[in-house]
Amino acid sequence: MGMQILLFLSIIITIGLGILYLQALRQARSLKTQIEAYSAAQKELLSRVEFSELLDSVLREVIDDGIVVLDANQRVLFANNKARELADHEMVGESLIASLRHRGIDELLLEVIEHDEQSYVQQLLNFNNNIKLDVQIHRLQKSKRETFYVLLLRDVTALKRAEVARREMVDNITHELNTPITTMNLVVETLDDDDILRSKKGHKILKEKISDLRRSLGVVTQLIEEMKILSEIQSGVLPILLQPTPLLPMIESAIAPLHPLAADHQQQIQVEIPDDIIVYAHAYYLERVVKNITHNAIKFSPENGIICITATQDEQMVTVAIKDNGIGIPADQLPRIFERFYQVDRSRDRARKNGTGLGLAIAKHIVQKHGGEIWVESEEGKGTTFFFSLYKDTSS
Ligand SMILES: Nc1ncnc2c1ncn2[C@@H]1O[C@H](COP(=O)(O)OP(=O)(O)OP(=O)(O)O)[C@@H](O)[C@H]1O
Ligand SMILES: [Mg+2]
Repeated sequence: MGMQILLFLSIIITIGLGILYLQALRQARSLKTQIEAYSAAQKELLSRVEFSELLDSVLREVIDDGIVVLDANQRVLFANNKARELADHEMVGESLIASLRHRGIDELLLEVIEHDEQSYVQQLLNFNNNIKLDVQIHRLQKSKRETFYVLLLRDVTALKRAEVARREMVDNITHELNTPITTMNLVVETLDDDDILRSKKGHKILKEKISDLRRSLGVVTQLIEEMKILSEIQSGVLPILLQPTPLLPMIESAIAPLHPLAADHQQQIQVEIPDDIIVYAHAYYLERVVKNITHNAIKFSPENGIICITATQDEQMVTVAIKDNGIGIPADQLPRIFERFYQVDRSRDRARKNGTGLGLAIAKHIVQKHGGEIWVESEEGKGTTFFFSLYKDTSS
């Protein structure tokens, strides 16, 4: 009997223990899922914090436009690096006018504040004399009470400068094309006039007109060719490949086509360059430099002039000098002659009719792409010397 009770009790205990074990197991499982859920939430929270930190540093450091956030009282809550750079000091906590010190921007802010229907204004403003800013101000209404103002300050100085340059370029090209096209129109009118052609002088007039036409076509062709080479060099479409190039043969090949023109003017071109100098150059482009400068020397020198091309060198560089005894360039014009389309006093230059003012701009760009420099010395009435420097090949 006692044995039976004992057996019964031990069965009850075993079952009880089993139930307890199963309960503990279930609790442990649910605890595990809870812990997992908790750590996932924590992870997400962490990644959100990390993401907002990332966003913050993008706004502050990476974005190239100035960003300023103002509270409802127009105090600066946030200013990124670019905005602080424009203001030239820390801005947080200050009013807009105290931090940017710009009346125009302040007036723009007032416009958004005062006009409820307007949530955004934009204006192009001059900032500190030489900076052009595209200013946008947005109103952010988070709730009835919470209003923020976001300022975007975009520096468009370079963009505007490029726009002006492009406009000037088009003006210049149109201006340069005006004369040859007018001439060509006149030629066409004459060629279309039977009375003139049948007249006694008809043949002579025809010959004259054809030579006018040829000259005008020459101007247009030169303009197109020079514009093309300038854009090729500036855009880097055709990269300049520097190779060891013997200097003397390169210069001789550049001036060879100019000898007949010099002979027409009873001018001499003398080349005095040692034949062992080797420079780093892209021969095709460098010949262009020598040709442009020497062509000027011929154009702007009187009959019987002498043009002399020499070279001096130090350990690293060679400097080529192209000297003429021509009309010279006034001192106040010297800094401008390398600009595109720039020509000294247009009435002065007898040879101006066959030039567009691009020759020296092209020469400057080419020399700079070679890592060298180009400059000029001149005295009115006495003559001009152009210099350019190049790297020497010292390997042999
Ligand atoms: N050797 C020189 N002597 C005097 N004036 C010069 C000389 N070289 C250049 N100039 C002046 O500089 C200006 C600019 O020269 P540049 O070679 O760029 O243009 P250009 O000769 O008028 O036209 P292009 O070279 O396009 O045919 C010339 O118009 C001229 O007024
Ligand atoms: Mg020229």
